[in-house]
Amino acid sequence: MSYQNIQIQEQNGIYILTINREKAMNALNGQTMTEIRQFFAEDAPKKNDLKGVIITGAGPKAFVAGADIKEFLGMNAEKGRQLSQKGQDIFLLIEQFPKPVIAAVNGFALGGGCELAMACHLRIATENARFGQPEVNLGIIPGYGGTQRLIQYIGKGKAMELLLTGDMLGAQDALQLGLVNHIAPAEELIAKATSIIEKIAAKGPVAIAKIIETVNAYFHYNTDGFNAEVLAFGATTNTEDFKEGATAFIEKRSPNFSGK
Ligand code: CAA
Repeated sequence: MSYQNIQIQEQNGIYILTINREKAMNALNGQTMTEIRQFFAEDAPKKNDLKGVIITGAGPKAFVAGADIKEFLGMNAEKGRQLSQKGQDIFLLIEQFPKPVIAAVNGFALGGGCELAMACHLRIATENARFGQPEVNLGIIPGYGGTQRLIQYIGKGKAMELLLTGDMLGAQDALQLGLVNHIAPAEELIAKATSIIEKIAAKGPVAIAKIIETVNAYFHYNTDGFNAEVLAFGATTNTEDFKEGATAFIEKRSPNFSGK
């Protein structure tokens, strides 16, 4: 499959997947999600030379600013549940990928972008990186695993605050809370991620795959939480509030929520 919205570059067995929608802050529209799925489910497993994957965003401002809000108009509960389930399934593929996947977070990682970064095994960020789950501003909740993985990384108290307020975390705060593994200057971001993948590539590949599998197994009790998120996401996408939130974003004004 040829890709339109992602770009794949390979160097010495390290694959850099760039979300390439700079004008839309690399927002994840349906086509982009399908291409990410295609890479992790079909293409990457066939690459015998693959040591690891680095995911980053095009341009200097954004890693990924979320799911594409412009595709959200006309959503209903069933479509919302399907969208959430598809996104969760794709991000689970990344989380369960048997080789290291590192998010090189080069700016805003919001909503689905924060969720994408959290599905990766490690996160390296630039100083200007900003993490957050601002879905409540739109009258919906995170739908690609954010309510579950944010707790796993930063604990319930801080996760609850970020999810309820929609506030963003700067790179230094994200580092202190354990959401980010390292901070690197923008021009060294990919090199830092590459050096970590090279280090991991020198270890036993079966052991690496089993570490990923086993660490993920610790969180399996959360499976019901993910399902609850799918149902709740579907419910919030079916509201007047969400129609108003998404319309207000596109019209560049503050939303006027009715609570319906
Ligand atoms: N979807 C679609 N388009 C987006 C977008 C998104 N998530 N984020 C940014 N864009 C677009 C803007 O609409 C704008 O397009 P136009 O030039 O056509 O108007 C362009 O990208 C540049 O954005 P801004 O002008 O807003 O840039 P800024 O520097 O002023 O602000 C920002 C940057 C803080 C990231 C801001 O764009 C923003 O708040 N984006 C939305 C973030 C968000 O709410 N993400 C959650 C999405 S819902 C989700 O992800 C649900 C889920 O879990 C599945």
